Amino acid sequence: MWRLAVDTGALDVNSPYAYLLVCTHFASTSLVAVDPEDPEDLAGFAAAYRTPDDLDVLFVWQIAISAERRGAGLGGRLLRALLTQPGNRGVRWVEATVTPSNRASERLFHSFAQSLGVTCEATGSYPAELFPGGNHEPEVLYRVGPLSIDRNEMKRGR
Ligand SMILES: CC(C)(COP(=O)(O)OP(=O)(O)OC[C@H]1O[C@@H](n2cnc3c(N)ncnc32)[C@H](O)[C@@H]1OP(=O)(O)O)[C@@H](O)C(=O)NCCC(=O)NCCS
Repeated sequence: MWRLAVDTGALDVNSPYAYLLVCTHFASTSLVAVDPEDPEDLAGFAAAYRTPDDLDVLFVWQIAISAERRGAGLGGRLLRALLTQPGNRGVRWVEATVTPSNRASERLFHSFAQSLGVTCEATGSYPAELFPGGNHEPEVLYRVGPLSIDRNEMKRGR
């Protein structure tokens, strides 16, 4: 996951240790996409957790698809598959922040909302001045939902 994050050239890369924490503490709310023919070659990941103050919300902290697999629907599939994770039962809202220049990511969350028949709205942001160095865009908060709990159960095949 760390290597994929580095390779995107678009993500704020966190320490390898941070990704280890995702793989342990947030394993039941996160997901990786693996190429069955080459399991060592990670196709993508979505690092996500339920926000401690509101467990109805699944916050997608980072999502990445390997460069050669982008634009083929895998990002959307990964987001929909996230909702079937055991730790994500009953999630009503999916949130993520997106920088204004990241059209692919913006489109991904709008398209994800469309596929579920719900809305995707910008509801706030972490303004640019909160980030050190003066060269970070704002992170605009998008909120997708409300998701029907019944639909989540259906997607789990129940
Ligand atoms: C953002 C990202 C995860 C999308 O994954 P993906 O597998 O390419 O996305 P999909 O193929 O499922 O496409 C989802 C939607 O976005 C659109 N899209 C994909 N790439 C796009 C691009 N470069 N520009 C505009 N729209 C794009 C698709 O057309 C689709 O919309 P549609 O359903 O209306 O046709 C991928 O581009 C990526 O890994 N980027 C680098 C890391 C990153 O920026 N992560 C997000 C911030 S945390």
